[in-house]
Parts: sequence; C-alpha cells; structure tokens
Amino acid sequence: MVAIAVNENGKVLTISPKGPKGTSLRFHAFWLRDNAQDSETRDPYNGQRLITLKDVPSNTRISRAILTRNSVEITFIPENKTICYDTNWLLSNAYDVTRCREKGWVKSSITTWDGAFNLPASNFKTVTENQSILHRWLGKLARYGVAKLTNGPIEEGSLTKIVDLFGYVRETNYGRYFEVQTEVKPSNLAYSGLALQAHTDNPYRDPLPSVQVLYCLESSLTGGESIVIDGFRAAEILREKNKEWFNLLSSYCARFEFSGNSGVCLRARRPIIELAPDGELVAVRFNNRSTAPIVDVPFEKMEAYYSAYRYFSEIIEDPSMSIHFNLEPGDSFVLDNTRVLHARTAYTDLGRRWLQGCYADKDSLLSKLSTLSNRSRGHTEC
Ligand code: FE2
Repeated sequence: MVAIAVNENGKVLTISPKGPKGTSLRFHAFWLRDNAQDSETRDPYNGQRLITLKDVPSNTRISRAILTRNSVEITFIPENKTICYDTNWLLSNAYDVTRCREKGWVKSSITTWDGAFNLPASNFKTVTENQSILHRWLGKLARYGVAKLTNGPIEEGSLTKIVDLFGYVRETNYGRYFEVQTEVKPSNLAYSGLALQAHTDNPYRDPLPSVQVLYCLESSLTGGESIVIDGFRAAEILREKNKEWFNLLSSYCARFEFSGNSGVCLRARRPIIELAPDGELVAVRFNNRSTAPIVDVPFEKMEAYYSAYRYFSEIIEDPSMSIHFNLEPGDSFVLDNTRVLHARTAYTDLGRRWLQGCYADKDSLLSKLSTLSNRSRGHTEC
C-alpha cells in the first residue's frame, strides 16, 4: 500500500510506499501527463503515443489526486482532464532514484566473464523446435554476449536458419553470408590460414552489424581453434588498472576503414570504448586490421592514448581472458559484435576449414527475447 501527496503547487505528485523500506518517489505533473496510458493519449492497440508534447500545456498542474486500491486518479489543469494510473506502473517507472554509477557501468542484465567462463551451448535442433529452450538460449546470449549451437545440419546457408530464430540477416557488400576459408589470393586476411588477432567485425560500418554468426561446415585440419574474449570485461579491467587510460579510449574517436574490395570504401569514426551519455558501457570496437590513422586525439594526449590502446590490447591478448574451442561440422556460435571479440589460431593447409559467417542486429534479438519473456510470464506483448 502507498500514500500520495500533491506538492509544489500541483507541480509534483509524491508516492510513499509504506513499510520500513518505503522511500518517497516524486513525479512531475508534465511527465505524468505526457506518459498517460489512457486511450486518448496512447493507442490501445499498438501502445503508440497519440499526442505530441505541444498538446501538453506547459503550465500543466495537478489539481486533484485520489488514491484508490490499485491506482491513482489524477486531474490535470488547465486541460481539466482526469487520468487513471496503475500504482505498480508508477512504481516500476519511477525516475526519482539515486544512481551511483561509475563511468563504464554495465546493465544488470549483463554479466562479464573471463577465460574461466563456460561457454553457453545448446543443441541446434532443440533450439529451433522448442520455444522455451530458445528463450533460455537467447537469454544466455544476451547476458554473456556469446552462445554456441551444436549438431546443426551440414548444409550451406544453415547459418541463416539461426538468424531466422530471432531476426533478419543483415546483408553487406560481403553478401547475405560469406565464406571463411583458405584462398590463394586473399583479399581479406580472414580468408587465409594465418592466426587472426582478436577483433570485433566491421567497425568501419556505422551502424556496425551488432550480431555475428559463424557456422562450421568442414574442419579436417590442425589448428584453427576459435577464440572469444569479453571486450566489456577487458574494458572493466582497463578502468580498474588505469582510469585515465579508460577515459582516453572512451573520450576520443578512433577511425576505421575498409576499401579492400573494388567499389567499397567504408569509413567510421567511433571510440574504441563507447559509452552512453550517462557512462553506460555500450560498445567495444577493436580491429587492428581496419584501424585507420587516428587523428581526433590532441597532440598532447596522443602519447598517453597510444599507451592506453597498447595496454588495452595487452589485456585482450592475456591468455586468462580467452576461451578456446573447436567447431565440428554443424557447430556454430553467435556473438554480440558490439562486445565480444573473436580470434582464430593459425591452421595448416593439410586439410580444410570451412566456415560461413553472416551478420544480424541485436535489436531484433532482444525484441524476440522480450516477447518470449513476456509470454512465459503471461504478459501481453508490448
Ligand atoms: Fe572476424
């Protein structure tokens, strides 16, 4: 149960949950009016807002607020409009809370990891046929940024069936999907037998593809182990060891470029460690092969920037950070390309390693996860 009060001459509604842990939560009158859930403000079918901000008078005040069993009935002036708010909705959307967040904080829905982590894995067939197993697998993929699937079909293009589970393939100049195998004249180092340094893919795109799928169709050679590293954990370690270096990599843009194919010249200007305006860690971009000259760091800071960049790459290459695994034909892994770096050990030419890769986007993955979560809780979809 809660108590309510109207304060500051109708500009603020205060809700006070009763009990030892009850902390008063304030809501502005204009915020309440703009976020009203009634059918004249929000479309009852799709939930989209039907008014614009100019439809809310700038001098909006609360003239009356009545607490009923599970709701608060509020009358706004000068509109003289009464709207009912679900109390639980108000409590779950409260913004009058103290946030002690350090630069580089991560959402509670994310767990960072190092080389001691066990890679989440599920079976291709069960994930594609059972929605609750898909729900669990997508939940782990969202939390850890990487998850494996095993025993899939050994057929070209099967990787797109994985994307079909949650979204849409993002086609690029590499095609709907691309081959990762030995070529005599590689146009991109990913197609040779050399070891590949840990990297995120395509930082030269803006927006970059936020999901990548790598799918094994053939593996009959020595080496070529796949490696994944949590870039968010690496960023956390950098911040713990040297806050100034963390600030340098997150405050200045690096530049990325790819023009290895005829008719393609992709460029992006983004930081290696990207933060939201409130300091949330949102992306790591790290790809030595496609880093262009960095020219957006002031001369006075460039030496320290390079020290930070070098140290960040040392953290990424520290063996304690990486997970190594072999992919058998039919095995695949999906990763959050804004967070998890991948690499490969060198392999010989005594055999063949054939992977296919494709890109997709994280928004549709998280959308699918949310709808499955809502369904399992018995909620309607948003
Ligand atoms: Fe790659």
